[in-house]
This record gives sequence, C-alpha cells and structure tokens, in this order.
Amino acid sequence: MKTLRVALGERSYDIRMEGGCLKNAGEHIRAVCPRAKKLFVVTDSNVGPLYGGTVLDSLEATGFDRRLLVIPAGEESKNAALLSNLWEEMLEFGLTRTDAVVALGGGVVGDLAGFAAATVLRGVDFIQLPTTLLAQVDSSVGGKVAIDLRHGKNLAGAFHQPKLVLMDPETLSTLDDQTFSDGMAEVIKYGCIADRAFFDRLAAHPSRKEIMSDIESVLYTCCDIKRQVVEEDELDTGRRMLLNFGHTIGHAYELAGNYTAWTHGQAVAAGMVTAAKLGVSLGVTPADVPQQVEALCAAFGLPTSIPCDIQTYASAVGRDKKGAGTDISVILLEEIGRAVAHKMPKAQLVRLLNSFDKIP
Ligand code: GLY
Repeated sequence: MKTLRVALGERSYDIRMEGGCLKNAGEHIRAVCPRAKKLFVVTDSNVGPLYGGTVLDSLEATGFDRRLLVIPAGEESKNAALLSNLWEEMLEFGLTRTDAVVALGGGVVGDLAGFAAATVLRGVDFIQLPTTLLAQVDSSVGGKVAIDLRHGKNLAGAFHQPKLVLMDPETLSTLDDQTFSDGMAEVIKYGCIADRAFFDRLAAHPSRKEIMSDIESVLYTCCDIKRQVVEEDELDTGRRMLLNFGHTIGHAYELAGNYTAWTHGQAVAAGMVTAAKLGVSLGVTPADVPQQVEALCAAFGLPTSIPCDIQTYASAVGRDKKGAGTDISVILLEEIGRAVAHKMPKAQLVRLLNSFDKIP
C-alpha cells in the first residue's frame, strides 16, 4: 500500500492507495476514528450498487453501526435542499460528535458529504473513499467541500480536512471513457504546473490502458504534488491558486455550454490550452508549449478548444474567486512543469481571450 501524509498539524491525515483496499475500509477507518460508533455513508446511484455492499460489509465486520444514504448521481445533487436533507438524516440516525461521515464516490458526493460533515453538529470527522480518477487525484485531497448556488458552482462551502483518504484504483475500471478522460485533464494539469518529467511520462504512454498499468504511481505523483501545495497554503490564499491552471478559462467554457455541453475535465483541458496560448501572448510562456499541452489533451480524447463569446468570458472572469477588484490572477506556465500566478486587469484578460477565438 502506498501512503502519503498530509502534514497540517492537528489536521494531518494519510492518503492511502491500493487495489482492493475498499474491502478493508472498516479497519482503515477504525484506525483514524477510534471513538466512532456510527458511520453515516453517502454515495450516489451509480457508485452505490457497485461498491456500497463491499464498504458496508467491511464497516459492519469492524463493528460500526452504519447507515447508507444514496443520492442521485450528477452535479445537480450538490444543492442546499439535499444538504439540508443530509443533516436531518444524520440526526435521525443519531450521529454524535465522536462519529463520522464517509463519502463513497466522485467529486459531487465528496463535496456534498464533506460540507454536511463540516457543518452538522458544528463539524464531525470525515472520511473520503474516492472512486473516480478526478476525485482520487484532486477533489478528495485538500479539504475543500461545497455546494453549488444559483450564482455558480462551489459558492457555499468550507475547508474541512478529511481524517483519511482511502482510494482503491480498482474502482477506476468501472468508469466510462469520458469520465476517465475527465480525470486525465487534472492529471495532465499536475504535469503542466509542477513536474516536467511526469508530463513527458504521460506523453510517452498516451492511453487509458498504459495509464492503468501504472495507476498507483500516477495517483501517488498527483496526490504528492497536491499534498505539497496544500501543506504550504491550506486556505488557498497563495500558492494553492496554481492548482487552478486552466480553471478560470475552463469555467467560462462550462458556462458557455450551460454546464451540460462540456464536463469539468473537458472544459479544463480546453482552458489549459487557451491559458498556454495566453501565456505566449503575454511573453510568459515559450511558444512551443501550447502545442505540447494540446497534443497531450487530444491523446486522451479531451477537447482542445471550445467556442465562447465575450460576454461569457466576462461573466466567468467576473465571478472567479481569484479576482480582487478590477484585477485577476491568472495561472500561466513559465515552462512545462512550472506555473506562476500572473496578475492582470480583468478587462484585458477578457479582450485577449476573445481575440484568440477570432484567430483561425
Ligand atoms: N481543486 C483545487 C484545490 O483543491 O485547491
């Protein structure tokens, strides 16, 4: 079993990864929640039928009293009504402050269950059992939990670090190709922002089959990069912004497709390519970088450009959390493997992004 320790003082925790480890979820959770009697498990309608039984059996065998709540699969579930329902169900179950909430699923389940855990009874322990590639390399690590509001995604939330992130790479075998590719966008992002050798390794093995043949090491590399960034900037006031490479522009693309035409990973992939082009036009990024990012995204079936009009760019830039007054910090590449936050006027960013779409 590969293990990484996220060192955050009394909020420190392990990220553990091993094929088949969900079968022993109970023992792993017992080790980090020694006083817990009850575990409230949240999963979704896709993941529950696949892995819910395995996890519940293991929790029961370890002596936990457990309840499973299945939410509808999909981003629409990250809403205030479902959150409130979760709180009520947790209290109905008799959850106390020494008990814990377990998220079994992808980013939606982790974000919603995590926010419920952060807030019910003013906060209870939380365990992440991520089952998608995106959740394993990104959203399950770092403690960001949230729901979506009418005004945008993740606009009500908290920082609530898990007690444990336990990932079983075997769960990736049941993902459809598009969901796997979505996660690859974040995997590629780590190469772009922090690890040239990792980027080259992905480029030399550009298929799902090859990635899966070395998946524990891919997960380890991504989580290790995220671990370092989170340790340095837990509350996202500085270096953690670098993890948002491709995301500001990606949010514009998600909005352009009304959050249905493009998935988050697809929008981030196209956003990374545009961010690379933006970096070239601002004199920060070497001219050969956009083509390399584009080729790697395309190899994993990700789009490399998405149509977007100036109004959509303006609203996405306006609501970005990295904005301050009339300026915004956009993440650019000084080279593949090194990212930098570049402060610029929002209006200039919107004008430049709009001009790229006009270039044939
Ligand atoms: N997904 C970006 C972060 O955790 O900061």
